[in-house]
Amino acid sequence: MEVGLVKLTIDGNEVQAPKGTMVLEAAEQLGIHIPRLCYDPDLSTVGACRLCIVEIEGIRNLPASCVTEVTEGMVVRTDTPAVIEARKTVLELLLANHPVDCLTCEKLGECLLAKYCYEYGVFKSPFDGEKHHYEMETDNPFIVRDMNKCILCGRCIRACAEITGKNIIDFSYRGFNTRVAPFGDTPLSESECIYCGNCVAFCPVGALSEKQMLNLGRRWNLKKVKTTCTFCGTGCTFDLRVKDGKVVGVTSNPDNAVNGRALCIRGRFGTRDFIHSDKRLTTPLIRRDGKLIPATWDDALDLVAERLKEITKQNGPNSFAALSSTRFTNEEIYLFQKFARAVIGTNNINHYPSPCHGAMYREDTLCSEAVCEFAGTATLRCPNNLQGASDMGALSGSLAGYQRVDRQEARSKYEEAWGVSIPGEAGLTVSEMFEHANQGDLKAMYILGENPVLS
Ligand code: SF4
Ligand code: SF4
Ligand code: SF4
Ligand code: FES
Repeated sequence: MEVGLVKLTIDGNEVQAPKGTMVLEAAEQLGIHIPRLCYDPDLSTVGACRLCIVEIEGIRNLPASCVTEVTEGMVVRTDTPAVIEARKTVLELLLANHPVDCLTCEKLGECLLAKYCYEYGVFKSPFDGEKHHYEMETDNPFIVRDMNKCILCGRCIRACAEITGKNIIDFSYRGFNTRVAPFGDTPLSESECIYCGNCVAFCPVGALSEKQMLNLGRRWNLKKVKTTCTFCGTGCTFDLRVKDGKVVGVTSNPDNAVNGRALCIRGRFGTRDFIHSDKRLTTPLIRRDGKLIPATWDDALDLVAERLKEITKQNGPNSFAALSSTRFTNEEIYLFQKFARAVIGTNNINHYPSPCHGAMYREDTLCSEAVCEFAGTATLRCPNNLQGASDMGALSGSLAGYQRVDRQEARSKYEEAWGVSIPGEAGLTVSEMFEHANQGDLKAMYILGENPVLS
Protein backbone atom coordinates (compact mmCIF):
# COMPACT_ATOMS: atom_id res chain seq x y z
CA MET A 1 0.00 0.00 0.00
CA GLU A 2 1.24 3.50 -0.86
CA VAL A 3 2.55 5.65 1.98
CA GLY A 4 -0.12 8.05 3.26
CA LEU A 5 -2.99 5.83 2.17
CA VAL A 6 -5.45 4.32 4.61
CA LYS A 7 -7.34 1.09 3.90
CA LEU A 8 -10.91 0.76 5.17
CA THR A 9 -14.13 -1.09 4.39
CA ILE A 10 -17.39 0.64 3.51
CA ASP A 11 -20.53 -1.47 3.11
CA GLY A 12 -18.31 -4.53 2.63
CA ASN A 13 -16.14 -2.92 -0.08
CA GLU A 14 -12.47 -2.25 0.51
CA VAL A 15 -11.22 1.19 -0.38
CA GLN A 16 -7.96 3.10 -0.01
CA ALA A 17 -8.05 6.80 0.67
CA PRO A 18 -5.39 9.36 1.51
CA LYS A 19 -4.97 10.09 5.21
CA GLY A 20 -7.18 13.01 6.19
CA THR A 21 -10.01 11.97 3.85
CA MET A 22 -13.46 12.04 5.43
CA VAL A 23 -15.58 8.89 5.44
CA LEU A 24 -18.23 10.58 3.26
CA GLU A 25 -15.59 11.33 0.61
CA ALA A 26 -14.07 7.84 0.77
CA ALA A 27 -17.56 6.39 0.23
CA GLU A 28 -17.89 8.55 -2.86
CA GLN A 29 -14.80 6.82 -4.31
CA LEU A 30 -16.87 3.63 -4.21
CA GLY A 31 -19.89 5.32 -5.76
CA ILE A 32 -21.75 5.27 -2.43
CA HIS A 33 -23.69 8.50 -1.94
CA ILE A 34 -24.18 9.43 1.70
CA PRO A 35 -26.95 12.03 2.05
CA ARG A 36 -25.78 15.44 3.15
CA LEU A 37 -27.20 18.90 3.70
CA CYS A 38 -24.51 21.05 5.31
CA TYR A 39 -21.55 19.38 3.56
CA ASP A 40 -20.35 20.80 0.27
CA PRO A 41 -17.09 19.74 -1.37
CA ASP A 42 -16.18 23.36 -2.15
CA LEU A 43 -16.67 24.63 1.42
CA SER A 44 -15.14 23.96 4.82
CA THR A 45 -16.95 21.27 6.83
CA VAL A 46 -18.95 21.94 9.97
CA GLY A 47 -20.85 18.72 10.71
CA ALA A 48 -24.03 20.60 11.51
CA CYS A 49 -26.98 18.75 10.00
CA ARG A 50 -26.15 15.14 11.06
CA LEU A 51 -27.85 13.68 7.99
CA CYS A 52 -24.62 12.03 6.89
CA ILE A 53 -24.38 9.78 9.95
CA VAL A 54 -23.00 6.25 9.51
CA GLU A 55 -22.21 3.25 11.68
CA ILE A 56 -18.54 2.61 12.42
CA GLU A 57 -17.43 -0.55 14.20
CA GLY A 58 -16.11 0.23 17.66
CA ILE A 59 -17.86 3.63 17.91
CA ARG A 60 -21.03 3.68 20.01
CA ASN A 61 -22.76 6.72 18.53
CA LEU A 62 -23.50 7.35 14.88
CA PRO A 63 -20.77 9.78 13.76
CA ALA A 64 -21.25 12.36 11.02
CA SER A 65 -19.29 11.00 8.06
CA CYS A 66 -18.45 14.43 6.63
CA VAL A 67 -16.29 15.27 9.64
CA THR A 68 -14.97 11.80 10.53
CA GLU A 69 -11.53 11.00 9.14
CA VAL A 70 -10.79 7.57 7.72
CA THR A 71 -8.50 5.36 9.81
CA GLU A 72 -6.66 2.15 9.01
CA GLY A 73 -8.92 -0.91 9.22
CA MET A 74 -12.08 1.15 9.81
CA VAL A 75 -15.32 -0.73 9.07
CA VAL A 76 -18.17 1.56 8.01
CA ARG A 77 -21.82 0.80 7.23
CA THR A 78 -23.87 3.51 5.56
CA ASP A 79 -27.28 1.85 5.34
CA THR A 80 -28.10 -0.10 8.51
CA PRO A 81 -31.63 0.16 9.99
CA ALA A 82 -30.26 2.32 12.83
CA VAL A 83 -28.64 4.73 10.36
CA ILE A 84 -31.76 4.96 8.22
CA GLU A 85 -33.99 5.50 11.25
CA ALA A 86 -31.71 8.25 12.56
CA ARG A 87 -31.63 9.99 9.18
CA LYS A 88 -35.43 9.90 9.04
CA THR A 89 -35.54 11.53 12.45
CA VAL A 90 -33.16 14.28 11.28
CA LEU A 91 -35.46 14.95 8.32
CA GLU A 92 -38.58 14.86 10.50
CA LEU A 93 -37.03 17.36 12.89
CA LEU A 94 -36.24 19.67 9.98
CA LEU A 95 -39.79 19.36 8.65
CA ALA A 96 -41.19 20.18 12.10
CA ASN A 97 -40.22 23.79 11.46
CA HIS A 98 -40.49 23.97 7.69
CA PRO A 99 -43.39 25.33 5.66
CA VAL A 100 -43.29 22.44 3.10
CA ASP A 101 -44.45 24.78 0.36
CA CYS A 102 -43.10 22.45 -2.30
CA LEU A 103 -46.07 23.04 -4.60
CA THR A 104 -44.99 26.61 -5.20
CA CYS A 105 -41.34 26.55 -4.10
CA GLU A 106 -38.88 27.85 -6.68
CA LYS A 107 -36.23 25.30 -5.72
CA LEU A 108 -38.34 22.15 -6.04
CA GLY A 109 -36.44 19.85 -8.37
CA GLU A 110 -33.09 20.99 -6.99
CA CYS A 111 -34.00 21.06 -3.28
CA LEU A 112 -31.99 18.55 -1.25
CA LEU A 113 -34.47 18.49 1.61
CA ALA A 114 -37.29 17.49 -0.74
CA LYS A 115 -35.02 14.94 -2.45
CA TYR A 116 -34.02 13.22 0.78
CA CYS A 117 -37.54 13.35 2.26
CA TYR A 118 -38.74 11.60 -0.89
CA GLU A 119 -35.95 9.02 -0.74
CA TYR A 120 -36.50 8.27 2.96
CA GLY A 121 -40.30 8.34 2.76
CA VAL A 122 -40.64 11.29 5.12
CA PHE A 123 -43.88 13.04 4.19
CA LYS A 124 -44.63 14.95 7.37
CA SER A 125 -43.16 15.47 10.77
CA PRO A 126 -44.49 13.64 13.83
CA PHE A 127 -43.15 16.50 15.93
CA ASP A 128 -45.73 19.17 16.53
CA GLY A 129 -43.45 22.12 17.12
CA GLU A 130 -43.60 25.87 16.86
CA LYS A 131 -43.01 27.28 13.37
CA HIS A 132 -41.40 30.51 12.28
CA HIS A 133 -43.46 33.11 10.46
CA TYR A 134 -40.78 35.38 9.04
CA GLU A 135 -41.66 37.82 6.32
CA MET A 136 -40.12 37.01 2.96
CA GLU A 137 -37.33 39.44 2.10
CA THR A 138 -37.95 40.70 -1.44
CA ASP A 139 -36.81 44.30 -1.26
CA ASN A 140 -33.61 43.88 -3.27
CA PRO A 141 -33.63 43.30 -7.05
CA PHE A 142 -31.69 40.03 -7.07
CA ILE A 143 -32.22 37.61 -4.18
CA VAL A 144 -35.38 36.44 -2.45
CA ARG A 145 -34.79 35.27 1.12
CA ASP A 146 -37.42 33.11 2.79
CA MET A 147 -35.96 32.30 6.18
CA ASN A 148 -38.96 30.11 7.03
CA LYS A 149 -37.39 27.53 4.72
CA CYS A 150 -33.87 27.89 6.10
CA ILE A 151 -32.49 24.66 7.57
CA LEU A 152 -29.52 26.43 9.20
CA CYS A 153 -26.96 24.41 7.29
CA GLY A 154 -24.67 27.45 7.13
CA ARG A 155 -23.62 26.85 3.53
CA CYS A 156 -24.54 30.41 2.51
CA ILE A 157 -22.45 31.83 5.35
CA ARG A 158 -19.44 29.78 4.31
CA ALA A 159 -19.97 30.55 0.61
CA CYS A 160 -20.05 34.27 1.35
CA ALA A 161 -16.89 34.05 3.48
CA GLU A 162 -14.88 31.43 1.63
CA ILE A 163 -15.96 31.85 -2.00
CA THR A 164 -16.85 35.53 -2.22
CA GLY A 165 -14.57 36.69 0.59
CA LYS A 166 -17.20 39.04 2.02
CA ASN A 167 -18.53 37.73 5.38
CA ILE A 168 -21.83 39.57 4.94
CA ILE A 169 -24.05 37.02 6.70
CA ASP A 170 -23.79 34.90 9.83
CA PHE A 171 -25.98 33.15 12.38
CA SER A 172 -27.85 35.63 14.56
CA TYR A 173 -29.75 35.01 17.81
CA ARG A 174 -29.88 31.64 19.57
CA GLY A 175 -31.78 28.37 19.84
CA PHE A 176 -35.15 28.33 18.06
CA ASN A 177 -34.64 31.98 17.05
CA THR A 178 -31.36 31.34 15.25
CA ARG A 179 -31.44 32.78 11.76
CA VAL A 180 -29.03 33.79 9.04
CA ALA A 181 -28.74 37.54 8.65
CA PRO A 182 -26.30 40.34 7.90
CA PHE A 183 -24.75 42.14 10.87
CA GLY A 184 -27.48 43.80 12.95
CA ASP A 185 -30.17 41.60 11.35
CA THR A 186 -30.71 44.10 8.53
CA PRO A 187 -32.06 43.15 5.11
CA LEU A 188 -29.38 42.41 2.50
CA SER A 189 -30.23 45.74 0.88
CA GLU A 190 -28.91 47.58 3.93
CA SER A 191 -25.72 45.52 4.17
CA GLU A 192 -22.48 45.57 2.19
CA CYS A 193 -23.75 42.65 0.07
CA ILE A 194 -22.47 42.79 -3.52
CA TYR A 195 -25.25 40.52 -4.82
CA CYS A 196 -22.94 37.95 -6.30
CA GLY A 197 -25.60 35.36 -5.48
CA ASN A 198 -23.00 32.78 -4.44
CA CYS A 199 -25.00 32.18 -1.25
CA VAL A 200 -27.99 31.31 -3.45
CA ALA A 201 -25.91 28.89 -5.49
CA PHE A 202 -24.88 26.99 -2.35
CA CYS A 203 -28.24 27.03 -0.54
CA PRO A 204 -29.59 23.47 -0.73
CA VAL A 205 -33.25 24.47 -0.24
CA GLY A 206 -35.71 27.18 -1.18
CA ALA A 207 -34.58 29.65 1.48
CA LEU A 208 -32.56 31.62 -1.08
CA SER A 209 -33.62 31.96 -4.69
CA GLU A 210 -32.94 34.07 -7.75
CA LYS A 211 -35.56 36.82 -8.01
CA GLN A 212 -35.38 37.06 -11.78
CA MET A 213 -36.39 33.41 -12.15
CA LEU A 214 -39.48 33.61 -9.92
CA ASN A 215 -42.51 31.94 -11.50
CA LEU A 216 -40.75 31.43 -14.81
CA GLY A 217 -40.68 27.65 -14.69
CA ARG A 218 -40.10 24.62 -12.51
CA ARG A 219 -36.42 23.76 -12.25
CA TRP A 220 -36.74 20.52 -14.20
CA ASN A 221 -38.30 22.43 -17.11
CA LEU A 222 -35.40 24.88 -17.33
CA LYS A 223 -32.88 23.47 -19.80
CA LYS A 224 -29.22 24.02 -18.87
CA VAL A 225 -27.00 25.47 -21.59
CA LYS A 226 -23.38 25.76 -20.49
CA THR A 227 -21.70 28.92 -21.70
CA THR A 228 -18.94 31.42 -20.92
CA CYS A 229 -19.67 34.85 -19.49
CA THR A 230 -19.07 37.74 -21.88
CA PHE A 231 -18.70 40.47 -19.28
CA CYS A 232 -15.05 40.30 -18.23
CA GLY A 233 -11.76 38.56 -18.78
CA THR A 234 -12.13 36.06 -15.93
CA GLY A 235 -14.06 33.83 -18.32
CA CYS A 236 -16.47 32.27 -15.83
CA THR A 237 -18.59 29.39 -17.02
CA PHE A 238 -22.23 29.02 -16.02
CA ASP A 239 -25.53 27.52 -17.13
CA LEU A 240 -28.08 29.61 -18.94
CA ARG A 241 -31.51 28.38 -17.84
CA VAL A 242 -33.67 28.28 -20.91
CA LYS A 243 -37.39 27.75 -21.32
CA ASP A 244 -39.24 27.87 -24.65
CA GLY A 245 -36.14 29.29 -26.33
CA LYS A 246 -35.85 32.17 -23.86
CA VAL A 247 -33.16 32.61 -21.22
CA VAL A 248 -34.91 32.96 -17.86
CA GLY A 249 -31.82 33.13 -15.69
CA VAL A 250 -28.33 31.90 -14.87
CA THR A 251 -27.28 29.26 -12.37
CA SER A 252 -23.81 28.08 -11.39
CA ASN A 253 -22.31 25.07 -13.09
CA PRO A 254 -20.10 23.23 -10.59
CA ASP A 255 -18.23 21.28 -13.28
CA ASN A 256 -15.97 23.95 -14.65
CA ALA A 257 -12.36 24.64 -13.92
CA VAL A 258 -12.35 28.44 -14.00
CA ASN A 259 -14.77 29.55 -11.32
CA GLY A 260 -16.56 26.57 -9.81
CA ARG A 261 -19.91 27.93 -8.66
CA ALA A 262 -18.62 31.44 -8.00
CA LEU A 263 -20.04 34.21 -10.14
CA CYS A 264 -20.40 37.96 -9.79
CA ILE A 265 -23.52 40.08 -9.99
CA ARG A 266 -23.02 40.82 -13.68
CA GLY A 267 -22.68 37.24 -14.86
CA ARG A 268 -25.35 35.79 -12.59
CA PHE A 269 -27.97 38.51 -12.65
CA GLY A 270 -27.01 40.68 -15.65
CA THR A 271 -26.77 38.10 -18.41
CA ARG A 272 -30.46 37.41 -18.96
CA ASP A 273 -31.47 41.05 -19.38
CA PHE A 274 -28.40 41.72 -21.53
CA ILE A 275 -29.38 38.89 -23.88
CA HIS A 276 -33.02 39.93 -24.12
CA SER A 277 -32.52 43.70 -23.94
CA ASP A 278 -34.80 45.56 -26.32
CA LYS A 279 -31.87 47.92 -26.95
CA ARG A 280 -30.03 45.21 -28.88
CA LEU A 281 -29.97 45.64 -32.65
CA THR A 282 -31.63 42.69 -34.31
CA THR A 283 -31.87 44.07 -37.83
CA PRO A 284 -29.62 46.38 -39.89
CA LEU A 285 -30.61 50.06 -39.89
CA ILE A 286 -29.79 52.51 -42.68
CA ARG A 287 -29.87 56.23 -41.97
CA ARG A 288 -32.00 58.00 -44.59
CA ASP A 289 -32.88 61.70 -44.27
CA GLY A 290 -31.60 61.64 -40.69
CA LYS A 291 -33.75 58.67 -39.68
CA LEU A 292 -32.67 55.07 -39.02
CA ILE A 293 -34.75 52.79 -41.22
CA PRO A 294 -34.77 48.96 -40.83
CA ALA A 295 -33.21 47.25 -43.86
CA THR A 296 -32.34 43.78 -45.11
CA TRP A 297 -28.81 42.46 -44.67
CA ASP A 298 -28.32 42.42 -48.46
CA ASP A 299 -29.29 46.08 -48.79
CA ALA A 300 -27.16 47.11 -45.82
CA LEU A 301 -24.06 45.20 -46.93
CA ASP A 302 -24.38 46.42 -50.54
CA LEU A 303 -24.57 50.01 -49.31
CA VAL A 304 -21.57 49.63 -47.00
CA ALA A 305 -19.45 47.95 -49.69
CA GLU A 306 -20.35 50.60 -52.25
CA ARG A 307 -19.62 53.54 -49.92
CA LEU A 308 -16.34 52.07 -48.63
CA LYS A 309 -15.16 51.53 -52.20
CA GLU A 310 -16.05 55.13 -53.13
CA ILE A 311 -14.43 56.65 -50.04
CA THR A 312 -11.17 54.70 -50.23
CA LYS A 313 -10.92 55.22 -54.01
CA GLN A 314 -11.24 58.98 -53.60
CA ASN A 315 -9.22 59.41 -50.38
CA GLY A 316 -6.92 56.40 -50.14
CA PRO A 317 -7.05 53.39 -47.77
CA ASN A 318 -5.96 55.42 -44.74
CA SER A 319 -9.21 57.38 -44.90
CA PHE A 320 -10.75 54.25 -43.36
CA ALA A 321 -10.30 52.92 -39.80
CA ALA A 322 -11.51 49.77 -38.08
CA LEU A 323 -12.28 49.75 -34.36
CA SER A 324 -12.38 46.19 -33.09
CA SER A 325 -14.16 44.86 -30.03
CA THR A 326 -12.73 43.06 -27.03
CA ARG A 327 -15.96 41.08 -26.67
CA PHE A 328 -15.61 39.10 -29.87
CA THR A 329 -14.00 35.73 -30.44
CA ASN A 330 -10.42 35.36 -31.61
CA GLU A 331 -11.61 34.17 -35.02
CA GLU A 332 -13.88 37.18 -35.53
CA ILE A 333 -11.18 39.62 -34.45
CA TYR A 334 -8.61 37.97 -36.71
CA LEU A 335 -10.97 38.31 -39.70
CA PHE A 336 -11.69 41.92 -38.80
CA GLN A 337 -8.04 43.00 -38.78
CA LYS A 338 -7.48 40.97 -41.95
CA PHE A 339 -10.34 42.89 -43.59
CA ALA A 340 -8.71 46.23 -42.69
CA ARG A 341 -5.26 45.17 -43.86
CA ALA A 342 -5.86 42.78 -46.74
CA VAL A 343 -9.11 44.13 -48.22
CA ILE A 344 -8.89 47.88 -47.52
CA GLY A 345 -5.08 48.09 -47.26
CA THR A 346 -4.63 50.05 -44.03
CA ASN A 347 -3.15 49.42 -40.57
CA ASN A 348 -5.78 51.72 -39.04
CA ILE A 349 -7.03 48.95 -36.79
CA ASN A 350 -7.25 49.09 -33.02
CA HIS A 351 -9.45 47.95 -30.19
CA TYR A 352 -11.20 49.87 -27.51
CA PRO A 353 -10.48 48.93 -23.90
CA SER A 354 -13.77 49.73 -22.14
CA PRO A 355 -14.09 50.33 -18.37
CA CYS A 356 -12.52 47.54 -16.42
CA HIS A 357 -14.81 45.30 -14.41
CA GLY A 358 -11.84 43.27 -13.26
CA ALA A 359 -10.68 46.18 -11.16
CA MET A 360 -14.08 46.39 -9.52
CA TYR A 361 -14.07 42.65 -8.89
CA ARG A 362 -10.64 42.81 -7.31
CA GLU A 363 -11.54 45.69 -5.13
CA ASP A 364 -14.83 44.19 -4.04
CA THR A 365 -14.00 40.57 -3.56
CA LEU A 366 -10.34 40.27 -2.82
CA CYS A 367 -8.45 41.84 0.00
CA SER A 368 -5.09 41.30 1.56
CA GLU A 369 -4.54 38.07 3.46
CA ALA A 370 -3.81 40.13 6.52
CA VAL A 371 -7.41 41.32 6.48
CA CYS A 372 -9.28 38.25 5.34
CA GLU A 373 -8.38 34.59 5.71
CA PHE A 374 -9.72 33.45 2.35
CA ALA A 375 -8.46 36.36 0.27
CA GLY A 376 -5.69 36.56 -2.29
CA THR A 377 -4.79 38.55 -5.36
CA ALA A 378 -5.75 37.92 -8.95
CA THR A 379 -4.68 39.36 -12.26
CA LEU A 380 -7.70 39.79 -14.49
CA ARG A 381 -7.77 41.28 -17.97
CA CYS A 382 -11.01 42.72 -19.11
CA PRO A 383 -13.34 43.00 -20.96
CA ASN A 384 -13.67 39.35 -21.70
CA ASN A 385 -11.39 39.05 -24.74
CA LEU A 386 -9.00 41.95 -24.37
CA GLN A 387 -6.18 39.44 -24.53
CA GLY A 388 -7.52 37.91 -27.75
CA ALA A 389 -7.96 41.32 -29.39
CA SER A 390 -4.25 42.00 -28.92
CA ASP A 391 -3.15 38.46 -29.78
CA MET A 392 -5.20 38.45 -32.99
CA GLY A 393 -3.69 41.68 -34.31
CA ALA A 394 -6.33 44.32 -33.58
CA LEU A 395 -3.37 46.64 -33.00
CA SER A 396 -2.27 49.49 -35.25
CA GLY A 397 1.39 48.41 -35.14
CA SER A 398 1.18 44.61 -35.01
CA LEU A 399 -0.31 41.77 -36.96
CA ALA A 400 -1.65 38.65 -35.22
CA GLY A 401 0.97 37.10 -32.96
CA TYR A 402 2.55 40.54 -32.31
CA GLN A 403 4.31 40.56 -35.69
CA ARG A 404 5.29 44.19 -36.18
CA VAL A 405 4.02 45.80 -39.37
CA ASP A 406 7.20 47.84 -39.76
CA ARG A 407 9.32 44.67 -40.09
CA GLN A 408 9.41 43.31 -43.62
CA GLU A 409 10.17 39.72 -42.50
CA ALA A 410 7.11 39.74 -40.21
CA ARG A 411 4.87 41.31 -42.86
CA SER A 412 5.94 38.96 -45.60
CA LYS A 413 4.60 35.90 -43.71
CA TYR A 414 1.13 37.41 -43.89
CA GLU A 415 1.60 38.80 -47.39
CA GLU A 416 2.43 35.32 -48.60
CA ALA A 417 -0.51 33.72 -46.77
CA TRP A 418 -3.04 36.39 -47.81
CA GLY A 419 -1.69 37.07 -51.32
CA VAL A 420 -1.66 40.88 -50.87
CA SER A 421 0.85 43.49 -49.80
CA ILE A 422 0.47 45.08 -46.37
CA PRO A 423 1.46 48.70 -45.61
CA GLY A 424 4.68 48.98 -43.60
CA GLU A 425 3.71 51.95 -41.40
CA ALA A 426 1.76 51.64 -38.17
CA GLY A 427 -1.83 52.87 -38.43
CA LEU A 428 -3.90 55.07 -36.15
CA THR A 429 -4.55 54.19 -32.53
CA VAL A 430 -8.06 54.58 -31.19
CA SER A 431 -7.54 58.11 -29.86
CA GLU A 432 -5.77 59.17 -33.09
CA MET A 433 -8.73 57.84 -35.09
CA PHE A 434 -11.06 60.33 -33.44
CA GLU A 435 -8.56 63.18 -33.84
CA HIS A 436 -8.30 62.44 -37.57
CA ALA A 437 -12.06 62.09 -37.89
CA ASN A 438 -12.37 65.59 -36.36
CA GLN A 439 -9.72 66.93 -38.74
CA GLY A 440 -11.69 65.48 -41.64
CA ASP A 441 -9.10 63.14 -43.17
CA LEU A 442 -10.64 60.00 -41.67
CA LYS A 443 -13.82 59.54 -43.69
CA ALA A 444 -15.16 56.11 -42.70
CA MET A 445 -15.03 53.88 -39.64
CA TYR A 446 -16.12 50.30 -39.11
CA ILE A 447 -16.89 49.96 -35.39
CA LEU A 448 -17.37 46.41 -34.17
CA GLY A 449 -19.60 45.76 -31.14
CA GLU A 450 -18.56 48.82 -29.13
CA ASN A 451 -20.09 52.19 -28.46
CA PRO A 452 -17.14 54.58 -28.18
CA VAL A 453 -19.51 57.47 -27.45
CA LEU A 454 -20.65 55.74 -24.25
CA SER A 455 -17.33 54.08 -23.43
S1 SF4 B 1 -37.28 24.27 0.32
FE1 SF4 B 1 -37.52 22.21 -0.50
S2 SF4 B 1 -38.75 21.16 1.01
FE2 SF4 B 1 -38.91 23.32 1.41
S3 SF4 B 1 -40.70 23.99 0.31
FE3 SF4 B 1 -38.99 24.28 -1.09
S4 SF4 B 1 -38.89 22.36 -2.26
FE4 SF4 B 1 -40.18 21.97 -0.48
S1 SF4 C 1 -24.97 37.80 -2.45
FE1 SF4 C 1 -22.76 37.45 -2.26
S2 SF4 C 1 -22.05 39.07 -0.89
FE2 SF4 C 1 -24.28 38.98 -0.67
S3 SF4 C 1 -24.62 37.62 1.07
FE3 SF4 C 1 -24.72 36.35 -0.77
S4 SF4 C 1 -22.61 35.57 -1.03
FE4 SF4 C 1 -22.51 37.29 0.40
S1 SF4 D 1 -30.21 30.17 3.81
FE1 SF4 D 1 -29.90 28.22 2.76
S2 SF4 D 1 -27.69 27.92 2.78
FE2 SF4 D 1 -28.14 29.48 4.29
S3 SF4 D 1 -28.29 28.38 6.20
FE3 SF4 D 1 -30.36 28.58 5.38
S4 SF4 D 1 -30.68 26.72 4.20
FE4 SF4 D 1 -28.50 26.85 4.58
S1 FES E 1 -23.55 16.66 5.84
FE1 FES E 1 -22.45 15.84 7.49
S2 FES E 1 -23.26 16.83 9.19
FE2 FES E 1 -24.28 17.77 7.52
